[in-house]
Amino acid sequence: MTLMQRNITKVGKIVKCFIQQDVIPVRSCAVPHNITSHRGLVVGSAKLKQGVCGLKNYSKSYKTVLTSNQSHLKCMSTASSNSSYGVDKVQISPDNRYLAVRWTNGKQSQYHSVWLRHNCHCDDCKQKDSGQKIFDVASIPTVVHLHQVTVKGNTLHLIWGGECEHRGEVPASLLWQCDYSQEALNRRYQDTRLDENCWTKKIPEMYFEEIINSDKGLLSFLTNINVYGLCLLKKVPLKEDKVTQVAKRIWPYIENTIYGEIFEVVAAPKPINVAYSDVHLDLHMDLVYYESPPGLQLLHAVRFDDCVVGGESTFLDVFQVAQQFKVTHPEEFRSLVQIPASFQKIHYDRELPVHLTRQQPHIVLNHNEEIVRVNWAPAFEAPLTVNEENVETYYKAYGAFARAVRDSPNLLTMRMKPGDMTVFNNRRMLHGREQFKLNGGVRFLKGAYVHTDHFKIRLQTLSRLLGDDHTMKHVGNGDWF
Ligand SMILES: [Fe+2]
Ligand SMILES: [Zn+2]
Repeated sequence: MTLMQRNITKVGKIVKCFIQQDVIPVRSCAVPHNITSHRGLVVGSAKLKQGVCGLKNYSKSYKTVLTSNQSHLKCMSTASSNSSYGVDKVQISPDNRYLAVRWTNGKQSQYHSVWLRHNCHCDDCKQKDSGQKIFDVASIPTVVHLHQVTVKGNTLHLIWGGECEHRGEVPASLLWQCDYSQEALNRRYQDTRLDENCWTKKIPEMYFEEIINSDKGLLSFLTNINVYGLCLLKKVPLKEDKVTQVAKRIWPYIENTIYGEIFEVVAAPKPINVAYSDVHLDLHMDLVYYESPPGLQLLHAVRFDDCVVGGESTFLDVFQVAQQFKVTHPEEFRSLVQIPASFQKIHYDRELPVHLTRQQPHIVLNHNEEIVRVNWAPAFEAPLTVNEENVETYYKAYGAFARAVRDSPNLLTMRMKPGDMTVFNNRRMLHGREQFKLNGGVRFLKGAYVHTDHFKIRLQTLSRLLGDDHTMKHVGNGDWF
């Protein structure tokens, strides 16, 4: 029996021995450490038989540490992995640049020593109360060597050596949640991308009472918005403050814009926005000229008289359009990614003058060529300001995309009834309105916005505290995750 095996027997814990040859003493480490101070610790550098440990690319010589007891984790990051898992085995690679972890569910992960150093949770590196880093990250060398690892409970105790001498710790739960193996990245990609089943012709509906009186109801409401892009609230009392109540139910502070906290959509004689008239509104996003346009838009039909003809609301998931456009018009798609459009709100003849311009492509991709943001608001386009050779290319691509939006078979149309409140993701769902004639009646909506980040916070925390802790879908705010 080897030293390794004797130690395992001594601690009597869950690990199976995968060291089949003689244990070689641990390499010298610049950091002083006392291996006996860690209960159940087994440290060594051993030659492993190829394939015995099952950890990828680990077939030569390893420093090996086995768990002193089973650490059970609750995964917080994906819906598909909500079970409790523990650390089964950990191994440091021969060159000390990686740590391999095998979980009790059989999955395997690998972490760079430099990554672990950046995520050290010791008191010198991370402030316990705020959770913020408090060390100089610039002091960490590019190549970092991990020399020792011990698992105690749910924590990995680590010792780095060489130029990066440090003794610290990382919670095993963090490793599980932040696994960046290709399998984990693929899973995350699948969990966050919009499902084609989301693009139905049906708008999910809930009752006002459900979300006001129940946090679980609120979670369902926000999940609907995240998955489908919108949700219709029914039986909202016909009081003008209800849009405020619902907005504050999502987040205590309403997002303020150039239209104030609460706005009224009603036909006016000299409108400061085309929405405040009776004309047809093309599909668009609101406030696209902002650095961060509002996330959720709430529109409450306080009055919508039967005699009013027209005025139906329209919605279209622009991400679905853009995904298809990428396939059907690859050249034009590329142009809309590369050539920036211009947006503006310039209006001096109003109580608070506004002059705001912004240059951004219509379609924004991340490093994986995924669409992470779309900017679409024809009424707020400024004169194009690009190199001469891009002008016609832009308009050709722009026209093709505008037709793809106009002709999409996935347009949702509904006539709001008094007491209806539509709540939709302004970064994903284009919205518009049919022209209307009042015929002596009234069409009166009250509106408000909730910032994307506040929507995400509320959904993520409720999901973790009350729900299945599922991974959120992309919300279209340019986030790369
Ligand atoms: Fe709008
Ligand atoms: Zn530290």
